[in-house]
Amino acid sequence: MPHQERGSWRSKFGFIMAASGSAIGLGNIVFFSANAYKYGAGAFYLPYLLALILVGIPVMILEFGLGHSTRRAFPQSLGRAVGRTGEFVGWWAILNAGFITMYYITILAWVLGMWVGSFGPLFSEASAALPAFSGVGELKNPMGYFFAMLSGWWPLAAVFVVWGLNVLIVWRGAKSIEGVVRFIVPLMWVMMLVLIVRGLTLDHGEHGILMLFTPNMETLRNVDVWKGAFSQMFFTLSLGFGIMTAYASYLPKKSDQVSNSLMVSFMNCSFEFIAGLAIFSLLFVFVIPPKASTLSMMFFIVPTGIAQFPAAVTLFGVLFFTLLLVAGLSSSVSLVEALISAMIDKFRIARVKILLIFSALGLAGSIVFALPKVIDPGLDSNGTLGLSLLDLIDHWAFSYGLPLVGLVECLLIGWLFPVSKLREFINENANLKLSPIWDWLIKLVIPLLLAVILGYSLYGEIVGGIYGHDMETGSIDGLHLLALGAWLAVTLGGAIILTLAPNRDREDSVTSEVNDASR
Ligand code: PHE
Repeated sequence: MPHQERGSWRSKFGFIMAASGSAIGLGNIVFFSANAYKYGAGAFYLPYLLALILVGIPVMILEFGLGHSTRRAFPQSLGRAVGRTGEFVGWWAILNAGFITMYYITILAWVLGMWVGSFGPLFSEASAALPAFSGVGELKNPMGYFFAMLSGWWPLAAVFVVWGLNVLIVWRGAKSIEGVVRFIVPLMWVMMLVLIVRGLTLDHGEHGILMLFTPNMETLRNVDVWKGAFSQMFFTLSLGFGIMTAYASYLPKKSDQVSNSLMVSFMNCSFEFIAGLAIFSLLFVFVIPPKASTLSMMFFIVPTGIAQFPAAVTLFGVLFFTLLLVAGLSSSVSLVEALISAMIDKFRIARVKILLIFSALGLAGSIVFALPKVIDPGLDSNGTLGLSLLDLIDHWAFSYGLPLVGLVECLLIGWLFPVSKLREFINENANLKLSPIWDWLIKLVIPLLLAVILGYSLYGEIVGGIYGHDMETGSIDGLHLLALGAWLAVTLGGAIILTLAPNRDREDSVTSEVNDASR
């Protein structure tokens, strides 16, 4: 059977929109600003740029190159390159991404809730009562609206809607994804530009910009700053999830992975940069210190800034949440596609079937992350059950899962494949040729950097108690173990089972050549 379920991009534009749509997500709009603020504003650019050049672009070339050369999603691609161990690492990455998909979609469901609210009470009413957050009483909107929503049941309905949208967009793979991203990704840029013009034209809007550019060099001595920059690079460029490999596997034979990587990372980082300008300008005009948490930035710090605009508050509020929604959707579909394409490649199973099965599982997971506090009244006033679990899973999947995947991926391809072979393949089609320095980045420099980051995180865990908590307090203990256990069981156990499962993948290069000829 020819590999009919794989599909391909109709245009290079479609591919670039899809890959940059994946990279540009919630992280670009708020995470960068939160980090930049936390880590010394202007001084953050130095580690950030180094991380981009030393790790981001080289690993993206690697992931694109793998997908393009093997025409397979991540597990099969690594499997073809270096055998079973490679496939196992691929599945581990995909399953780790599975967890991230679940909570990323829950966060998007909250965005949807805020989006709906922004047409009505979110910006127009002064405060909201908080039924489930006892002891907090009334909070001012938009913060009040957010917590009132979080502590109720209706985000569960929003989770259904967001999953539904994802299923629709991924329904026909590259074809349907391309159909959507070619509109929504440019739209995202337009909305961001409108926000930045608004930010900069506010009285004293330039103060925020000055703040963003004023480096606090002291912070460069802090290891956390470097760790922040390097781990953010993986997340923001969507690396270590198998996404870029899956997307590149739908490219035609003649395609330049060096220029694709440069283009996608440039688009991603420039978007992040202008988002930083927009957000800093609004926050500092209104003197709202951006507490360095992504969720608070997104759900009440920036909205509080918008609420103080001299005019058209609702319009800008709706715009902001539409932007988040669109940016998040073009990222979440890439996560779903990475998983679906891996399953299709290994099991030759019909796309719609696996999509529905996976979405049902994913939906269940996202619902757990959306659970309000009512389920566990023992929690303190700062969280819902879902939010606490989200924090914990994010801790493992983001701080350990991603760098670990990156580390092993580079070592395997660097030393076992070997990487010089991949470089030759990439160079055949590349205008700007890769030099052997790239080999050494993959073989040595990146693994070393990631190992240091992982070691440092682990050290913090041991000295400071797991996740900075000293395991004393009541119900969170059980949650810690539950989260870690679930994460390990699913990622490790699942990866072993999927690797050992019978492989129905077959060589179909003839088919792909025929496809190429007819293109
Ligand atoms: N790159 C996305 C962001 O910056 C995060 C993301 C990574 C989303 C991978 C989906 C998949 O928000």
